[in-house]
Amino acid sequence: MTTSEHSGSSYSDGELDTNRSSNPTFQSIVEARYSRRATLLGGMSAAAAALFGLAACSDDDDAPPANPGITAGSSGATTSGRLVSLNGGASAAQGVLSSVAWTQVSGPTVALANANTTTATFTAPAVTASTNLVFRFTATDSGGRTSSADTTVTVDPARLGFTAVGHSLEDVVKVPAGYSVTVLYRLGDPLTAGAPAYANNGSDTGFASRAGDHHDGMSYFGLAATGTARDDTSNSRALLVMNHENITQAYLHPNGPTGTGSGQSRPEAEAIKEIECHGVSVVEIARGANGWSYVQGSALNRRVTPNTPVVFNGPVRGSALLRTRFSPDGTTGRGTINNCANGYSPWGTYFTCEENWAGYFRRAAGDNAARGGATAKDVIALNRYGVTEGASGNYGWSTVAPADPANTTFARWNASAAAGAPADGTGDFRNEPNQFGWVVEIDPYNPAATPRKRTALGRLGHEGCVPSLRVAGRRPAFYMGDDNRNDYIYKFVSATPWADADANAADRLAVGDKYLDSGTLYVARFNADGSGQWLPLVFGQGPLTAANAAYPFADQADVLVNARLAADAVGATKMDRPEWGAVNPKTGEVYFTLTNTNASSRPITATDGANPRFYNDPKGSTAQTGNANGHIVRLRETGDTSEAVTFTWDIYLFGAGADLDPANINISGLTADNDFSSPDGLWFARPSSIAGQGSPLLWIETDDGAFTDVTNCMLLAAIPGAVGDGGAKTITNTSGSTTRSQATFVGKQPGVNLKRFLVGPKECEITGIDSTPDGRTIFVNIQHPGENGTGAAPTSSWPATQANASATGRPRSATLAITKDDGGVVGL
Ligand code: FEO
Ligand code: CA
Ligand code: CA
Repeated sequence: MTTSEHSGSSYSDGELDTNRSSNPTFQSIVEARYSRRATLLGGMSAAAAALFGLAACSDDDDAPPANPGITAGSSGATTSGRLVSLNGGASAAQGVLSSVAWTQVSGPTVALANANTTTATFTAPAVTASTNLVFRFTATDSGGRTSSADTTVTVDPARLGFTAVGHSLEDVVKVPAGYSVTVLYRLGDPLTAGAPAYANNGSDTGFASRAGDHHDGMSYFGLAATGTARDDTSNSRALLVMNHENITQAYLHPNGPTGTGSGQSRPEAEAIKEIECHGVSVVEIARGANGWSYVQGSALNRRVTPNTPVVFNGPVRGSALLRTRFSPDGTTGRGTINNCANGYSPWGTYFTCEENWAGYFRRAAGDNAARGGATAKDVIALNRYGVTEGASGNYGWSTVAPADPANTTFARWNASAAAGAPADGTGDFRNEPNQFGWVVEIDPYNPAATPRKRTALGRLGHEGCVPSLRVAGRRPAFYMGDDNRNDYIYKFVSATPWADADANAADRLAVGDKYLDSGTLYVARFNADGSGQWLPLVFGQGPLTAANAAYPFADQADVLVNARLAADAVGATKMDRPEWGAVNPKTGEVYFTLTNTNASSRPITATDGANPRFYNDPKGSTAQTGNANGHIVRLRETGDTSEAVTFTWDIYLFGAGADLDPANINISGLTADNDFSSPDGLWFARPSSIAGQGSPLLWIETDDGAFTDVTNCMLLAAIPGAVGDGGAKTITNTSGSTTRSQATFVGKQPGVNLKRFLVGPKECEITGIDSTPDGRTIFVNIQHPGENGTGAAPTSSWPATQANASATGRPRSATLAITKDDGGVVGL
C-alpha cells in the first residue's frame, strides 16, 4: 500500500509509517521478476509503487505454475483520513490475465475506488485505536485459474497530516505544501444578475445586491443537484451563509468618508453604502471542473442587511422594552448588525449573532437625565451594555438628513430619548438598542422567510450559538459566549426534547419556534475545584426579582433583555472575553475561546482558576500586561448530557509566543510550529467527515494584535484530548515586582497535535469556517485585510496579491475555499 501525503507525488513512503520494515520496494522486485514474464494485465505496469509484503507469486521460473503469479503488495500502516493505494501485481503463467479485483476481507468497511484494477484506493476510516483492515487481491486468467493474496493495512487514529506553516508578515494567504487556495467571494462581488462588476475604487453602490464587508462567521448548507432543495450530503453545490460584521470605511468611498466632522452630517448615499455592507450573505456556490466558484444570479442568493424586516419571537416579543416608533407593539424590527460568530441548527437553519451592536448608537449628552438619572433602570441597562451617554455612534449614521423626511433608517441609530416623545418609546428610538444583541435565525433555503430574533436565548454581545449533540428525547442545548471583558459563557436549554423527525421538517423556522422560543437560559460559574455550575436566569428565582437592588427585574422579558445584569446578580464567572464555542462531535465536550484581556480589566489580584494568567508579553518595547494572548477553556457536562446543570472544566490551551516563560506563560509548550495569540474562531470538523469522527479535528482562528509583530493572524488545526487529560497546576503570575499564585487545571500539552495550517495577509483576522460534508474542502474567511490603510495608501492589496505579489489596489475581505491537491480530507 501507499499513502498519499503531498500533491504531485502519487506516493510517499517517507513521512508515514508505511515502511516500517527495511524491505526493498515491491517495485524493484517486480521489475526484476516480472520483466521476464509474458503478460501484464491491460498493459498496465504491475510495478505500481509499493512495498513488498504478503505475496503469493511464484519465484521459480523453471517450473511455471498453473495459476497466475500474484502479490497484494505491502502491509503497512497509515492514519485516519489518509488516502491509501493498494498496489497488486499479477501475471499469467499460462494464457493471459482476464481480470483482477480488490476486495475487503475484514475491518471497518471502506469504499474501494478502482477495485477492478491493480491499484485500488480508499480513504483510511476514522478509528479510535489501531485497527487492521485486510484486503485481498485476486487475479483470474483466461483459463479461469485464480490466485489471490492478502495485505493488511493498519489504521491508527488521526494525526495532523501537513507540515506547519511558519510565521508570516507577508500580504498573502499561506497554506501547507500540497494544499490550494481559491478566492471565492469578495467584498462587493455582485450577487444579483444585474449587479455590475465591482470597481473597488470607492465608486461602487448597491451593496444590498453585492457581498458585504468584513466576512465573519459562516456555515455551509448543501444543495441538491437541482439547485433548489436542501441536501445535507452535497459536496459540490451549496449555500454559504456568512456574516458581514463591520466595514473598513476608508475603502468604501473614493476618498474616504465625508461629513464626519463635529456638527456635520454624513451624506445619505455614503451611509446607505456603509449600512448595506453590514448584515448577512446567502450565496450559492458550486464546484465545477475548475474548482469552486460562487453563482451570480442564483435565485437563492440573498442579502440580509440592517434594513431587512425581522420579527421577534420568544418571551420578549411584544415587551414594552422593544417598542419603537417603527414597532409600536414591540414585535418587529429592522435588520441585524455587527454579526460576528454564528451557529447552525440541526434542522437546517443559520444563526447570526449580534455582537458589538452597542457602538452604533448615538446617545446625546443629557440623555441620562432625560431618562430619570443614573439610577433609572434604562440608564443602568444602557450603561451595562455600553450604550453610553455622549456616544456619537459608529460612522455617525444618525446625522444623515434623508431626502425623504419620513425615512427613519438613519434616525433609528440615535437612541436618545426625544424631548416630548412618549415615555413608552413609541415616538422615538430610545428602545432601539434593545432590538439588538440577539441570536437571529435565518432559513437559507427560503429567501422570502423573515428572520426571527430568538429572545429566549438572551441579549448579549453575542458570539456564536453552537448546538449540543442531538439525542432523541433529550432537551438540546445551545452554547453562547458574550464577547466583552469580564462577561460570561451561557447556554440555553430548550424546553422541548429533541425528535429526530424535526431535522428534516419542511418548515424550518417553525421547528426553530418549537425548540428556541421556550426554555431556560443559564450562565456559567467556574469553581476553583474544577467543577462548574449552570446558573438559571429565571425571573423570580434567587436575586432575579423586583427586590434586586442593583437592578430590579420586572419580568422574564426584563431578565432576557438584560441578561448581563441577571448574570451579574447570580454570581457567574467573569471571563477573559468569551469568543466562539465549539462542541466536540464525538464527545459533546464544549470548548470556548477566551480571546484575551488586559490588566485594567483583570488585574493580577483578580485572576481565578478559569482565567488564571497575568503576565507581560512585550510587543517590541511596549508592555502588554494581563492576559494578552488568551486561552481556550473546555467543559464536560455532568453525565454527558445537554440538560446538565453542573460540569467539570480545564484549560485546553494557552496562547503564547514560543519564547515566553514555559512555566507560567507558555504553559502549553507551544513552538514555532504552533505558537499563537488571541484565539477567536473555533470549529470542530463535521461529523459527516472522517475529520469529525474518531479524534475530531478542532480548528482555531486568531484575531490578534499582541503577536502581530511576529506574524499575521492564523488558522491552526488541532486534535485535542479531553477534559482532565492534564492535571492541576499552580501558576506564578507576575506584575512588576508583585507575584501571586493561581491554582488551575491545565490540559495535556498539545505537542504535534496542534499545527499552524494557514497564515493570512496583512492586518486581517481569520474567521468563519466550515467544510463540505466530506471534509475535502474547507471554507475560511479573511476579514479586514489592510484595516489600517486608506484608499490612497492601502496597507494591503489582498486578495489581488494572492495570485500576483506585486498587485496594488484596495484590499477586500473574502471567502477562501481550500482543498488538498490529492483530493483528501483537509488537515489529515
Ligand atoms: Fe467580532 Fe468577538 O469578535
Ligand atoms: Ca511578544
Ligand atoms: Ca471575532
